[in-house]
Amino acid sequence: MIPRIILLFKRIDQDMNRSIKTLLCVSIFFVCAHGAFAAPPTPPQVREKYRNYAMVHQGDAAAGKALFEAPGKIACSLCHTTDRSASKVGPDLFAIGDKFGRDDLIEQVLEPSATIAVGYTTTVVRTKAGDVYEGIVKQSSDAEIGLMQADGKLVHIKIAEIDQKRPRPESIMPEGLEQSMSQQQFADLISYLTTLKAPQSTAQEFHGMPLEIPPLKTPMKFEQFNSSKFSFKHPVWFGNVPGLANAYLVLEHETGSIWLYQKHDGQESKTKFLDIGRIVRGTNGLTGMAFHPKFTENHKYYIVNHTTEGNGFATYILQGIASADFKTDSGQPLKEAITIHSITNDHPGGALAFGPDGYLYVGMGDSGPQRDPNGNGQNLSLLQGKILRIDVDHPDSGKGYSIPKDNPFVNKPGIRPEIWCYGMREVWRFSFDPVTGDLWEGDIGQDLYEEVNIIHKGENYGWNVMEGFERFSNKYRREGETYVPPVFAYTRKYGQSVTGGFVYRGNPKSSFYGVYIFGDYQQKRIFAITQKNRLLEKARLLVRHTPQSVVSMGQDAAGNIYFVGYEGNIYKLDLDSTTFE
Ligand code: HEC
Repeated sequence: MIPRIILLFKRIDQDMNRSIKTLLCVSIFFVCAHGAFAAPPTPPQVREKYRNYAMVHQGDAAAGKALFEAPGKIACSLCHTTDRSASKVGPDLFAIGDKFGRDDLIEQVLEPSATIAVGYTTTVVRTKAGDVYEGIVKQSSDAEIGLMQADGKLVHIKIAEIDQKRPRPESIMPEGLEQSMSQQQFADLISYLTTLKAPQSTAQEFHGMPLEIPPLKTPMKFEQFNSSKFSFKHPVWFGNVPGLANAYLVLEHETGSIWLYQKHDGQESKTKFLDIGRIVRGTNGLTGMAFHPKFTENHKYYIVNHTTEGNGFATYILQGIASADFKTDSGQPLKEAITIHSITNDHPGGALAFGPDGYLYVGMGDSGPQRDPNGNGQNLSLLQGKILRIDVDHPDSGKGYSIPKDNPFVNKPGIRPEIWCYGMREVWRFSFDPVTGDLWEGDIGQDLYEEVNIIHKGENYGWNVMEGFERFSNKYRREGETYVPPVFAYTRKYGQSVTGGFVYRGNPKSSFYGVYIFGDYQQKRIFAITQKNRLLEKARLLVRHTPQSVVSMGQDAAGNIYFVGYEGNIYKLDLDSTTFE
C-alpha cells in the first residue's frame, strides 16, 4: 500500500515538475524567441477554417489596419513597417499586396516558415563564450555582425567571438498568430494587406513604365527540352558548346557538376563534363559560365564558383580547358582568373560574358546584407556591386588578368581599375546583343523594382541611393553624381527576382528579332521588351506562369531561347508560335 501512495505522489510531483518546466519553457520561448507571441501550433483543421473564411470574405481593410498596428498579442507592427524603412526585424510590407495575391497572403500569415522571404533567413549564432543568439543579419562588417532579434533588439557580435553561425529553417515570425483573432478579424487583416501596393506614379509618369504588362495576343508556347529522365539537380546555367552540334552544358548549383547534355533526333545523353564538388563548400557553388570567344581554337572556358572561405566567402572566376573533342574538361588544373573576397554572402554575382572587344565582363553583387548597409555598390574602392572588365588573354605576371587600358577608372587613385560600371545590387545574368554590341543586364531589386539596364562604360546605376526610379537611401548619395535609371523596371506585382536574358537574333523574319527576352525567378514569368535610346518602347508578358522557377536563360547556336527551371528542367521557347504584338 505505502509504496503505491508514494509512487502516486511521486507521479504528481513529476507531473507538476513537468508542467512547471513547460511553463518555464513557454515563457522563455515567449521572451527569447518570439516576444509575447508564441502559441502552440494551430491544428490543421482550425487553420483550414481561417483560410477558407478569409478566402471568401472580403474583410474590412480599415479594421485590419487597426489590428495590424495595435499593440498586444497580434502586433504585426512590432516586427513590420509599411513605410519602406524596414527598421524592424521582419520585411517592410509596403508593397506586399503587389507581391502576393489574397491566397498567398493568407499562407504567409498562417504558415510563416513554409516560405521565407529572401534575406530574412533566421541565423543562429553561438559565441565562444557559449551565448546563443537568434535573429536576422541586418549589418555586417569584417569586425562584427548586427543581428536583430525577434524583440527588435539589435545585438552586435564580434566576428572574432563567433564560434558557430548557421541558418535555421524556421521563420522568426511566430506560427499561430491567427489564434488571437476571430476569423472575421483575420479576414480584415488579409484585406488590409491586399491594399498595401507601391505607388506607380514616378515610374509611369516620368519613365513610361506600363501599369499593366499586357500578355501577347496569342500565348507563347514552350516545351520541356530534356525528358524528365535527364533532369538536373538545381541547374543554374545552360548554353550550347561552341563547335559542337546539339550539345549543351548545364551547370548544377550546389553539386559542382557540369553536364554535357546532348540531344539529337529524340536521342538524349548526359555525361560529366567537370565535377568540382570537392571545392564547392557550404550552400553555394557554381553560378555562371562563359566560353572564350576563341574556344574552338584554345578550348578555354570560364566558370563562377562561389564558396565559403574561413569566416567569409569568395567568388572565384576559374579558367578551365576543354578536351580536344570539347566533350569534357581536359583535366588540366583550373586557373584563377580573378577572386573576390567578401565578408557577407548575399548577392555574390554570377554573371559572366565576353564582350565583342574580347574582354571578360564579370557581374558582382553588393554581397549584402539586405539594403547594402555598408554602401558597397557606391564604394569604388571595392569590387562588390560592380560590373568588372578584365583582360584574361594578357595577364600581368602573377595574376590571372590585366586591366584593359580604356577601362574608365584606370589611374584614378582609390578606385579599382577593374570597374566598368557601378551601383549594382545583384547582377543576375547579362548578355551582349551581337548586332548592336549593347550589354543588357538584369539587376535584382530590394523592395520595389526589378531592373533591366543597358550598361555603358563608367556609369552609376544607382544602388543603394536609388532603387529603380526612386530614391532608396541618402546615406551614400554624392553631390553631382548621375544615377542612370533602368530601361525597364517592374514592381512586385510582376516579380521579385529578375533573371537577365538575351536579345533574340535568330530568324531575322521573326517579330521577336531584336527583342530582349528575360524572366522572373520568383513569379515564374517570361517578359519581352524593346527600347530606343534606353527608353522603353514596348513590354509584353510572354509566359504568365512557367512550370519551374526561371533561374537562367540560355541560347543555342541558332539563337533559340531557353529558360532554366531551378527545380531541374530546361525549356525551349517556341518563338514561331506567336507574334510580338
Ligand atoms: C516576431 C516578429 C514578427 C511578427 C510578430 C510578425 N511577423 Fe511577419 N514576418 C517576420 C519575419 C522575420 C518575416 C520574414 C521571414 C518569413 O518570410 O517568414 C515575416 C514575413 C511576413 C510576410 C511575408 C513577407 C514577404 O515579403 O515574403 C508577411 C505577409 C507577414 N510577415 C505578415 C505579418 C502579419 C500580418 C503579422 C501580424 C499578424 C506578422 N507578420 C507578424 C516577423 C514577424
